[in-house]
Amino acid sequence: MRELMGIPEGYSVLFMQGGASGQFSAIPQNLTAPGDTVDIVNTGSWSKKAIAEAKKYVSVNVVADEKASNYSTVPDAAALAQTPGAAYFHYTANETIGGVEFDYVPDVDAPLICDMSSTIMSRPIDVSKFGLIYAGAQKNLGPAGITVVIVRDDLMGKARPETPSVWDYAQMAAADSMLNTPPTLALYLLNLTLKWVKKNGGLEGMAARNQAKAAKLYEAIDNSDFYSNPVAPNARSWMNVPFLVADPSLEKEFVSSAADAGLTN
Ligand SMILES: Cc1ncc(COP(=O)(O)O)c(C=O)c1O
Repeated sequence: MRELMGIPEGYSVLFMQGGASGQFSAIPQNLTAPGDTVDIVNTGSWSKKAIAEAKKYVSVNVVADEKASNYSTVPDAAALAQTPGAAYFHYTANETIGGVEFDYVPDVDAPLICDMSSTIMSRPIDVSKFGLIYAGAQKNLGPAGITVVIVRDDLMGKARPETPSVWDYAQMAAADSMLNTPPTLALYLLNLTLKWVKKNGGLEGMAARNQAKAAKLYEAIDNSDFYSNPVAPNARSWMNVPFLVADPSLEKEFVSSAADAGLTN
């Protein structure tokens, strides 16, 4: 991961468990004290879950909420009203369900935290812009059961005392991600994926593949009068391309016909 992503010195790579959902709690537990405020952007389903979980620990300022577009957009970079003194700034690089993807990396004062569950390894990323990147493995890296956390070292060692040890970044780093039994088969498969990425052009190669795949899908959808994609052009995901039936009255029939043909979930 260090080689493929060009992860600089001063960052630790942790292999944890509990999924990206676990990190929705682990991040405030590790990076905040009671009474702190954090900034979170709401671009859809996964942001909402991150916000709900963070609210158990800290005061959350939703710095931008894309509700008005029914979560089919990302906010303008200039519209991100940061809270002075916020413990961190969190966003979801790609909303896996909505197919809404940031086309920029926010430039903020607070440590930048990113849910990259469906973005990691899909293209080159400048890790040095981030305080912490996390990703459940099961989209781009391997099977479920591993959560990758790439954390800047100065952000570790401040976990709240009640933080479970297996979710304390400093303790996990000190134990080389083996504070508890690691999911060895999942790690083995993740490593095979990384080798495959390396053999296939590294992250530049992945970016080219992903862009090409997405372009084909959007082209087919846009050229069709039967399907539509609701996402704003600048926010269209390379990773998840949702489609709707353009005529909503056909949606029920489409879904049941698809299920009859074995195409469901
Ligand atoms: C962007 C994003 N964040 C968080 C999650 C939750 O991850 P997990 O199932 O590993 O908890 C997912 C999907 O599962 C996701 O796509």
